[in-house]
Amino acid sequence: MKALILSGGKGTRLRPLTHTIAKQLVPIAGKPILGYVLGHVADAGIKKTGIIISPETGPEVRSYVGEGNRWGFQVKYLIQKKPLGLAHAVLTAKSFLGNDDFVMYLGDNLLSHGIKDAIERFKKSRPAAMIFLKEVSDPRRFGVARLDESGRVVQLVEKPAHPPSNLALVGVYLFSKRIFDAIAAIKPSGRGELEITDAIQELLNMGLKVESEKVSGWWLDTGKKDDLLEANTTVLDSYVATDIRGSVDSQSQISGRVAIEENTSITNSKLRGPVRIGSHSVIENSFIGPFTSIGDYVTVRDSAIEHSVVLNNSVIEGIERLEDSILGRGSKVLRNETRHNALRLMISDDSIVEV
Ligand code: DAU
Repeated sequence: MKALILSGGKGTRLRPLTHTIAKQLVPIAGKPILGYVLGHVADAGIKKTGIIISPETGPEVRSYVGEGNRWGFQVKYLIQKKPLGLAHAVLTAKSFLGNDDFVMYLGDNLLSHGIKDAIERFKKSRPAAMIFLKEVSDPRRFGVARLDESGRVVQLVEKPAHPPSNLALVGVYLFSKRIFDAIAAIKPSGRGELEITDAIQELLNMGLKVESEKVSGWWLDTGKKDDLLEANTTVLDSYVATDIRGSVDSQSQISGRVAIEENTSITNSKLRGPVRIGSHSVIENSFIGPFTSIGDYVTVRDSAIEHSVVLNNSVIEGIERLEDSILGRGSKVLRNETRHNALRLMISDDSIVEV
């Protein structure tokens, strides 16, 4: 069993963040999304992992993952020149995958449970493909499966305008080499991509066995801003344990689960968890409320923040209340005492400011 991790694509829905950072490297509770994915692959005991990268963001992915030593597996980077679809990514990996079974894991998906048990079940029943499903409120954003009364998959459609069910395809798939025959038979979709959903439908058309399982824990696709905030909330809630390595002065109060990394100082502030603060940051005269992740080298002064993600090297000063926000690396949000009802902004392409 090999693993194929998809870390290419454009990340257009997460702009402006993804103008300067690969979507899969956006940190959730201080760790890149891809880090959680690689952890699951390692836990499943997989030793050979291919990572699809794009020419644009590939170097950044490589510098994070390196040779894969941290996870105890060997990494092969596979460059996909253009993001022509998930099935196209599988074709790009053809010589790496050979005749082996493989798990394909989308590098921007987060799952509460790993993939180890599912792989065991796949090995026992040996279907052509195994897919994972989760009930969602808006299935039009996903691949959607229709099951018959006995629970067998009978139809799969990608981002349908009129979904046949509320069961979305989760971004983890197990395949035998038969998937290559199916991909050979499909054509690009309306959005110009070779869809893996269409290829799995093709396996059904070929009369091959496609098994499905409903995912029991949480599953998060980090495609958009609100998804990212939801992912941050869920991961902080699930994983953050109190762990204070930085310094907290006697004027500060900490309640709930709060993690603070080394060389960070908290002065005259209130922190209410779950909260995670990176290293070398300064929090002064401020309130950091639940579900906030703050990166490294961040300064927060005379401000209140809640339910937000603040990436490295940012500064927030004199802000009464910042909520539901994502600040990219090196951002500054400052109070200007002389502004006379005017806003003074310098924001990047595709930024959103709600006033
Ligand atoms: O998240 C689950 C959904 O993922 C499924 O329900 C859909 O059926 C499936 O098509 C996929 O939909 P998305 O539109 O969310 O896929 P996205 O374009 O965001 O790509 C998913 C990941 O794969 C992302 O990390 C980028 C990477 N990718 C994407 C494409 C199109 C590649 O590496 N190469 C590509 O060509």
